[in-house]
Amino acid sequence: MRFTTSVLGLAATASTAAAVSAANSGIKGFNYGAFFLNQAAKQQADFAYEFNRAKSLPGTSGWTNARLYSMIQWGTASDVISAIPAAIETQTSLLLGLWVSGSDQAITNEIAALKAAISQYGASFTNLVTGISVGSEDLYRDASGEIGLPAAKLIDCISQVRSAVAGTALAGVPIGHVDTYDSFLNGTNRAVIDNIDWLGFDGYPYWELTKPNSIGDAHERFYDGFNKTLALAGSKPVYVTETGWPVSGDTVGAAVPSKENARIYWEDIACSLIRSGVNLYWYDLQESQWGTASPDFGIYPAGDLGSVTANYDLSC
Ligand SMILES: *[C@@H]1O[C@H](CO)[C@@H](O)[C@H](O)[C@H]1NC(C)=O
Ligand SMILES: *[C@@H]1O[C@H](CO)[C@@H](O)[C@H](O)[C@H]1NC(C)=O
Repeated sequence: MRFTTSVLGLAATASTAAAVSAANSGIKGFNYGAFFLNQAAKQQADFAYEFNRAKSLPGTSGWTNARLYSMIQWGTASDVISAIPAAIETQTSLLLGLWVSGSDQAITNEIAALKAAISQYGASFTNLVTGISVGSEDLYRDASGEIGLPAAKLIDCISQVRSAVAGTALAGVPIGHVDTYDSFLNGTNRAVIDNIDWLGFDGYPYWELTKPNSIGDAHERFYDGFNKTLALAGSKPVYVTETGWPVSGDTVGAAVPSKENARIYWEDIACSLIRSGVNLYWYDLQESQWGTASPDFGIYPAGDLGSVTANYDLSC
């Protein structure tokens, strides 16, 4: 049924929108939150500064893509997030995100901001969009008793987004959902997979304290989860939407944060995913800004991104 709907959707909009394939295409990017650690909203200049830093990293290149968690400017009800004009300014491609947990109003406000972005920025915005994620780790939080969404509610949000983009320049853009891989593997959530075009895999061996999770086991942990997700996804592409290893913070199980271990994880996981052309959104470029994250997954430490030095070597 989903297949039929999407084929009809593409046919109906072929004259106005070029369909974007959901297939993996070697995208490299980072995750970009809407606010700093002191809760201050990122402004256009802040997003542009981060996007430009990502485009000129030492030892690597091509990190010209941004995954967002929300369409809404932090601290407003439904204003368009200033990451959109920053992406246009810096020619950064976008995996859009809609934050759908918390209240039924959340999806309504996110869709309002998405539609406002389409009408305000037109093709200069829509040409940059490679995909849309409806939600982020909602199934995981729901199962852990935090503020999330169960599968049925999430599927309702996904169909609202499909309706909202129908007839717009984003009609052909593949719609997915990002979650922890064990949430996708949980049979309760099977119907979510049937309703999306791609799966966003979040996997952190660092947090897997019930299994061997030292840096020496990290390859096995990551690829065990990733392979199981690929098998479950069948013909649908799986993007790695979050992964990384912290440079500092608490030891979790056998996982020890350090710059050396973060480098080992990068060289193994980032470099192997890049070689296989999997769409990859690393976590993260910089976590500690106007505060100190613990654990801190940042490639860059706190401070002016234009002048601080990377915590580890990014070559492959
Ligand atoms: C699967 O998901 C359901 C619904 O969130 C949850 O109640 C259950 O505990 C999960 N099962 C496992 C093994 O995590
Ligand atoms: C994952 O799959 C690849 C390709 O089939 C295989 O070479 C690798 O051993 C698998 N890794 C794990 C940890 O299952």
